[in-house]
Amino acid sequence: MAWPYVGLLCVLICLQSTQASTDVTDCPKTLDGKSTQEITDNTGCPIAFDGKCKCGLSRYPNSPHLPDAKKRYIVNCTNTGFTNASMLTCLPIETEVLIFTGNRIGPLPKNVLGNTKDYDDLEIMDLSNNGITFIPGKAFHKVFNVRTLILNHNDIEISERERPRVFYGFESLENLHLTNAFTESVNSSFYLLSLEDIFFESDLRLLVKLHLEQNEIYTIGRNASIFCQLPSLNHLYLGDNRLSDMDFRLDCMPGLTYVDLQRNNINRLSSEAISTIEQFSRQSNFTIELRKNPFICDCYIWSFVSWLKSTKVVLRDSDDYKCAEGISDTLIGKTLKNLDKNQLQCPTRPVHIEEKSSSTSAVATLSFILAFVTAILLAIVYYQRMKIRNHVMPYYEYVTRKIGYSGLASEEAPKVVAV
Ligand SMILES: *[C@@H]1O[C@H](CO)[C@@H](O)[C@H](O)[C@H]1NC(C)=O
Ligand SMILES: *[C@@H]1O[C@H](CO)[C@@H](O)[C@H](O)[C@H]1NC(C)=O
Ligand SMILES: *[C@@H]1O[C@H](CO)[C@@H](O)[C@H](O)[C@H]1NC(C)=O
Ligand SMILES: *[C@@H]1O[C@H](CO)[C@@H](O)[C@H](O)[C@H]1NC(C)=O
Ligand SMILES: *[C@@H]1O[C@H](CO)[C@@H](O)[C@H](O)[C@H]1NC(C)=O
Repeated sequence: MAWPYVGLLCVLICLQSTQASTDVTDCPKTLDGKSTQEITDNTGCPIAFDGKCKCGLSRYPNSPHLPDAKKRYIVNCTNTGFTNASMLTCLPIETEVLIFTGNRIGPLPKNVLGNTKDYDDLEIMDLSNNGITFIPGKAFHKVFNVRTLILNHNDIEISERERPRVFYGFESLENLHLTNAFTESVNSSFYLLSLEDIFFESDLRLLVKLHLEQNEIYTIGRNASIFCQLPSLNHLYLGDNRLSDMDFRLDCMPGLTYVDLQRNNINRLSSEAISTIEQFSRQSNFTIELRKNPFICDCYIWSFVSWLKSTKVVLRDSDDYKCAEGISDTLIGKTLKNLDKNQLQCPTRPVHIEEKSSSTSAVATLSFILAFVTAILLAIVYYQRMKIRNHVMPYYEYVTRKIGYSGLASEEAPKVVAV
């Protein structure tokens, strides 16, 4: 009995969604004007979800280690293969946790959740691994109470295209996961500048944890104040990037207690970084994690090593900080904290001397080439003197005199003049 009705609805939804541009505004309506949001199928989800998701109360997080986890209203679309997010405009109003992962969405539309309903209970949004390429400024409305937003493993481009208020509307956001979230086709220094604008525009005053792992970040860029728009920040995760130092300000984040810099490209921390950390740790309990960085154990690392040995800053797993390279090779694999100053040697041929000698040899080569070319030119002039005289007769006198005056090849000048 209900089948024709459902079929008709399906046709309606399909019509609606083909007509709609990328700016979906609301959940499709039935013929008599009611929203299809209330019409569910046997998955518990509204019919717009095509029976591919699960909706209902269940434990979250769903882990054997947390048997006492609270039951929450979860909408779970995992590996559903959707190619757009239009069904999310029909998200059940009581949703507390939205898991929407493993789809191929591309650019997000404006008003992903529609713009007519308030999702007062929605606290967690996991949008990982959806091939999201772009998030427009007004993608998320009505998300006042979302505490955790997960955008890991996407291809988000945030360049000049729009100076976006990407996270605007997430007024209560405490945890932002952006692990491997950005496209690799844009140089990280550009998106970090954009990210700073985004933080500035988005008003994330309550953000406590920020994950930026695996983003190929090799420098924080021109603005050391990048994280200063996040005054409540407590944990900053920058592991698995390519940073070679810690080159951003800490003092503007009074609550910061942990910075993760594991598996970056740090050969040693600079003295600037060390003094930034020391000054900051005086006002708060501060932990930094530097495991698996390629420390180079030569004489230049000594100030870092002696700091490691003496500082009151907590260096997590500091027994695991080891030489990746060293002078000599016997230091490779040695624990930094066990090194003595007399074990650390300077490179035998310091780089600046090499540079100097190579530049002197470059000058010598250049002078030789110059002399050679000059000699050839003079020889040509000498052997072609008859032709030259015929062709440039009016200038001949002048040229010979000029060569004579300028004192080039002084033995040859008289010969030319003598012709
Ligand atoms: C969204 O995807 C569905 C299939 O999952 C498709 O039928 C529909 O046309 C798409 N809508 C838009 C606006 O691209
Ligand atoms: C969501 O669904 C996937 C696959 O159906 C399942 O593996 C996962 O545990 C579910 N997540 C939760 C929190 O229930
Ligand atoms: C990114 O740009 C900087 C400077 O503009 C350059 O030094 C660096 O090599 C670039 N990195 C990549 C991966 O293109
Ligand atoms: C750095 O960022 C702050 C705010 O985050 C901004 O006020 C300042 O103009 C920026 N400076 C540069 C050089 O971009
Ligand atoms: C740091 O931690 C210790 C104990 O872990 C505590 O007594 C002290 O008050 C803390 N200091 C600050 C500035 O939070």
